[in-house]
Amino acid sequence: MMADAQQDHINFDVMFATHNAFRRDLERLEAAAVAGKTDTPEVRAGWENFKHQLHIHHTVEDERLWPTVQSKVGDKPEPNELLREMEAEHGQLDPVLTAVDQALATKSPDLIDRIKELGAVLGDHMKHEEEAALPLIQETCTNADWKNFAAGMARAQGIKGAAVYIPWILDSISPAERQKFLVNMPPPARALNKLFWESRYHKKQLWKF
Ligand SMILES: [Fe+2]
Repeated sequence: MMADAQQDHINFDVMFATHNAFRRDLERLEAAAVAGKTDTPEVRAGWENFKHQLHIHHTVEDERLWPTVQSKVGDKPEPNELLREMEAEHGQLDPVLTAVDQALATKSPDLIDRIKELGAVLGDHMKHEEEAALPLIQETCTNADWKNFAAGMARAQGIKGAAVYIPWILDSISPAERQKFLVNMPPPARALNKLFWESRYHKKQLWKF
């Protein structure tokens, strides 16, 4: 059944904020590579966190989001094709992530090219998801479906994960974007973030070189 967009509008702010955090991190990695400074513990920790966040994001999308959308669209060919593309694009990321890892480990002269390649594959995928998959979700899913998916994300992160995920998203974003993201977080998480998580996160100085 089609959801009534007027009455059951899904808010994608958390998804956009997460995608933008991936984009921001890859810019930081590239800046470190251009400066020849990818060896600092802070840059390495930033990269490890990036991979961890990306893994959780795509695992929960693959396990909880695409199957829900699939159940709504039935056997209609076009949306099914799009869902197959989403999963396939997630699969294409593994080799380019490994290539960056190898280039970092071997101090390869093609490190910047490998980072640009990852940026292109991930950037194209997120743009495709934002421009095609999110409108399909808006059209076919309910707010309750989306909240279910968000709950799956929260479960995958756990409290320890949230303590990093929330300040990581907020890192360097505008006050307006910050507000838009935080209103979607549960009040206890917002309070803990304000009291402990954000200052703890900033002490790590991820990506510093
Ligand atoms: Fe996504």
